[in-house]
Amino acid sequence: DVQHNPLIGLKGYRAKILHFAKATTSPKDDYCYFEDGLLVTRDGKVIFTGDYKNNINQYDKLDIQDYSGKLLLPGFIDSHMHFPQTEMLASFGEQLLDWLTDYTFPTENKFADYTYARAMADVFLRQLYRHGTTSAMVYSSVHKCAADALFEAAQKHNMLLMAGKVCMDRNCPDWLQDSPQTAQRDSAELIKTWHGKDRLHYVITPRFAPTSSEAQLAVLGELAQQYPSVFIQSHLSENHNEIAWVKSLYPKHKHYLDVYDHFGLVRQGAVFGHAIHLEKDEWQCLAERGASIAFCPTSNLFLGSGLFNLAQAEQHNIPVMLATDVGGGTSFSMLKTLGEAYKVCQLRGNQLDPMHGLYLMTQGAAVGLGLEQQIGNLNPGSDADFVILDPLFDELTELRFKHHNSPQDLIFALSILGDDRATVATYIAGKPVYQAARQHN
Ligand code: GUN
Ligand code: FE
Repeated sequence: DVQHNPLIGLKGYRAKILHFAKATTSPKDDYCYFEDGLLVTRDGKVIFTGDYKNNINQYDKLDIQDYSGKLLLPGFIDSHMHFPQTEMLASFGEQLLDWLTDYTFPTENKFADYTYARAMADVFLRQLYRHGTTSAMVYSSVHKCAADALFEAAQKHNMLLMAGKVCMDRNCPDWLQDSPQTAQRDSAELIKTWHGKDRLHYVITPRFAPTSSEAQLAVLGELAQQYPSVFIQSHLSENHNEIAWVKSLYPKHKHYLDVYDHFGLVRQGAVFGHAIHLEKDEWQCLAERGASIAFCPTSNLFLGSGLFNLAQAEQHNIPVMLATDVGGGTSFSMLKTLGEAYKVCQLRGNQLDPMHGLYLMTQGAAVGLGLEQQIGNLNPGSDADFVILDPLFDELTELRFKHHNSPQDLIFALSILGDDRATVATYIAGKPVYQAARQHN
C-alpha cells in the first residue's frame, strides 16, 4: 500500500562513497570514505550517507541501485568556463590576446541568435554531465538572449547553475559590444528573471578590465551593491601582455585587481579566473575582501599563460577552485583538469595531493561559493547531485588497479588516466542526467 509505505520516494545507491563533509584546510586527511557505502535520497535531496552493511536494515525493501565496486562522489563543480566557446576547443597557436581576436570573438558572435544559443546550451550541458560536472559558474556571450537560453536549458534539468551575460563595451569588435546602459539593463533584467529561481544564480560578468570602460565597471559595481546575493566573475592577471595593457588603460590604479576593487567588484562571491601573475598587494586584497580564485590549469598551459601558485593562494587563505576554462581550457573533464593541476604544481615544486585536488572541485569550491548547504558534499540535506565513476574503465586501468586501490590512489590515477570514459552515471537533484551506453561491470 503506497500511502502507508514509509519508504515512498526513497532511493538507495550502493557504491564506494567518498566526499568531504566539512570545510577543511587538510583535505588530505579530512575526507569520509565508505568502502561499501550507502547513499539514500528523497525528493532530490540526500537523506543518508554511510556504511551499507550497518545501515541497510533500517531501510527494509529500499529500492537500491547497485553500483558496488564503483566510486560515488559529489558531482563536480567547474568554477570558470565559457558556454559560447564549446565549439572552439583546441584552436591552434595563439596566446590570450590574439586568441581572443582570431577565434573567440567571431565564435561568440554566433550567440546573437537565440535559436542557435538554445541548441548549443543543450550540447554544453550534455558535455558537462557526461564528464560528471553537475554545477558550474559560466560566462555566456554578450547577448542577453544567449544567457536566457542557457538558464532555460539548466532549469529543465533542475541544475544548480551560476551564469551571467558577458559585459564588454570597448577594445573588442563593435559588432560584439554592449554599452554601460545596455549592460546594466540586460544584467538587471536577467537577475530579475533568473536569480533565485529554482537552483539558478546570476553572476555579474565584466569580461575583463581591458574590455570594460570605467563607466561600465561603475554601473556593474552599482548593480552588485543593489543585489548583494548575486555572484561576480571576471578574469585577472592571466597573461603578461594583458597585465601591461591594463596598466596602460588604468594608469591611476595600484594594480590590476585594484581596477575591479575600485568599483566594488571584489567581495565574497566574486570569482577571479587565473590570477597567475599577482603582486603582493593583490594577494592581500583578495584575502581581505573574501574573494576566490578559479585555477584553470589546462587553459594556463594551452595559452602559455603561466603556472598558478596554489601554495601562495592557500597561504593567504584565499579559496581556490578548480576550473576547466573551456574553451581556453582543453577539456570538459574535471578529472583531466585535476591531472593538469597536479603537473602545474609539480613544476612549482609542490605535490598536489589527490584528495586536496578533489576538494577543490567539490566541497572546497562549494565553501568558496557559500553553497556548501546545497552542493559539493553528500551530507544529509544537501542536493542529491552526484557522479558514479568506474575506476576500471578500460584494460589499462584494470591492470593499474589490480593491487592498489586506496581512495587516494583511485582519485590520482583517475586524474591522470581518466576522462568521460570513467563516468557511469551522473545525477542531478536525484535524477539521472547521463548514463553511459557501455556496460560497466
Ligand atoms: N580573458 C578575457 N576573456 C577571456 C576568455 O574568454 N578566456 C580566457 N582564458 N581569458 C580571457
Ligand atoms: Fe576564461
